[in-house]
Amino acid sequence: MIDPATIARIFDTADIVDVIGDFVSLKKRGVNYIGLCPFHNEKTPSFTVSPSKGIYKCFGCGRGGNVVNFIMEYEHLGYPEALRYLAKKYNIEIEERELTDEERREQHETESLFMVTEFAKNFFIDNLYNNLEGISIGLTYFKERGFIQETLKTFDIGYCPGKSDEFSQAALKAGYKKEYLVKTGLSMESGTRLRDRFAGRVIFPIHSLSGRVQGFGGRVLKKDEKTAKYVNSPESPVYHKSKIVYGIYQARKAIMSSDKCYLVEGYTDVLSLHQNGVENVVASSGTSLTQDQIRLIKRFTKNITILYDGDPAGISASLRGIDLILEEGLNVKVLLLPEGEDPDSFAKKHAAIELKDYLDKNEEDFIHFKTRLLAREAQKDPVARARMIQNIVSSIAVIPDSIIRSVYLKECSTLLDVNEDTLYFEINKIRRKKADKKSRISYRRENFEKPAPAKPQLLEKIDPEAEYEKQLVRLLLLYGAKEIITGTKPHKKTRMVAEFIIEDLKKDDLQLKDPLYKKIYEEYIRLFQENPAVDIKHFVNHPDEKISSAAADLISDHYQISKIWSRYENYLETEEMKLSQIIPKTVLSFKKSKIEQILRETSEALKNAQEKGDKDQEDFLMEKFMALNDLKMKISLAIGPRTIQP
Ligand code: CTP
Ligand code: MN
Repeated sequence: MIDPATIARIFDTADIVDVIGDFVSLKKRGVNYIGLCPFHNEKTPSFTVSPSKGIYKCFGCGRGGNVVNFIMEYEHLGYPEALRYLAKKYNIEIEERELTDEERREQHETESLFMVTEFAKNFFIDNLYNNLEGISIGLTYFKERGFIQETLKTFDIGYCPGKSDEFSQAALKAGYKKEYLVKTGLSMESGTRLRDRFAGRVIFPIHSLSGRVQGFGGRVLKKDEKTAKYVNSPESPVYHKSKIVYGIYQARKAIMSSDKCYLVEGYTDVLSLHQNGVENVVASSGTSLTQDQIRLIKRFTKNITILYDGDPAGISASLRGIDLILEEGLNVKVLLLPEGEDPDSFAKKHAAIELKDYLDKNEEDFIHFKTRLLAREAQKDPVARARMIQNIVSSIAVIPDSIIRSVYLKECSTLLDVNEDTLYFEINKIRRKKADKKSRISYRRENFEKPAPAKPQLLEKIDPEAEYEKQLVRLLLLYGAKEIITGTKPHKKTRMVAEFIIEDLKKDDLQLKDPLYKKIYEEYIRLFQENPAVDIKHFVNHPDEKISSAAADLISDHYQISKIWSRYENYLETEEMKLSQIIPKTVLSFKKSKIEQILRETSEALKNAQEKGDKDQEDFLMEKFMALNDLKMKISLAIGPRTIQP
């Protein structure tokens, strides 16, 4: 359990732009920041971060919240784990007591698995530098391959001792459960005993974007070994092979600043390039590229350069990757290294400047790459030539953006000396075929994706009472201490928004119905009475998760914040400037909705009384109904012709 004072400190320290900036490339716009939403696939940024309010909000998919909510959502962590993440980032010591066995059992499984991988990572690192075997075998190996310690440290490289269960025993002794050791794949059950999966291997930990260790790759050191060169963690709740991109944690800042990502195949390729000054590099780790991996990279840049070995295997791997990357709407370039070189060996042979220069000068657009590659075999053979054109056209056909498609098509037409119309015809044929394959509707959705409507609030039948409660709390949070002028000429009064709302509701003895809004409302009153300048972050960063989420959601309500993001920054002023009208109207509308509710109940009761033939009751209810109706009419008049729509 984290104590509330620590939670408050974490919230105070964590800078939402800094935290989210680790995962999303944010650009300043006005007083806020904007970027591509990490939670859904989009081309134009609708993900916004407001440092002054301490919230993020995506107007495409509707997700939003405070800084802790972001980490929860993004890293799939529970509330306490997300707090721990932030505490770690900001070096905040967490005050908490030792967990009991019971609590340990209750802890999220993912969290336990991450604790095991964290322990293993440190164990392996320790063994590389401080254990005789690790030094003489592991460290020496890396030294011989030309890796310096700084690089090894950056990537948390380690060594797993050769004795078959040294790691497992150490982990058990440290209190980690066998269940989790096996689930992470670090240990394997062999009869009643445990065996280390990575025994005798150097270890490449695989980090998530936030730097947690999801899994490991382990390389054998002896050449004559019969086992596979690399062994990797098996699939587990924290390690999904198809979703990890090796090196993304170490590369993400460089990818953002250079707006480009180099894609290589292997662990050592990443290390070598990084060591030689190219830090914006990640690896697909030997598997063919997946959509998830590309989308992960896409959060940081739209430009990928595939950098594979110059051998046939490398070429065909890059060819496979191209279409997938294009399909995700990214720009793809290819760079083939001289035959016999992989990025690792090539980087080692060249000085940093030479390497950079080579990379800059030799990358090719995918069309040129394919043309050059295929032209050789297609020179005189018309059938082969047709196949080549087909091949290139099929790559262009997957590009989602029609303008980019037509640019490439023009280029292709010139390059291959084929009539543009013919190419158009071919491309449309391919796209149509694809459209037929998928259901027409899903095709439409994918190809003409529009941001999903944030929340279909206005279309749904909404409970007006709840809606006005929501509006009241929202206005209170956003403008509580702002002054408004109320009353007519001789009785004009200047009052604070909060004062007005609180007093007006109290006068009629009105309560909020929704328990959460009620809680926020009452807490607001308490704070307001202490000090009218209630800080909105008190609610956004509230230790009660429900309150913080609701508050973040309320104040980032599409209705008002969308105006902030409009081109006219000052539009925000409009709601604030009209508070003198908006506040009384909203309070009246709230009352009206309450009355309407009572009216509905009364008319129901009236019907009952009529059925039962209870004349007295009927008269009484009829009178009540009329009086209420009268009141409602008066309120409607006071609200004026244009009711404020939530
Ligand atoms: N790989 C794997 N399992 C194997 C072989 C390879 O998972 N049996 C993955 C690893 O992620 C490896 C990548 O494929 O990094 C590329 O393989 P390879 O080129 O053979 O290895 P390198 O990374 O070049 O490793 P080294 O330079 O140490 O030989
Ligand atoms: Mn290699």
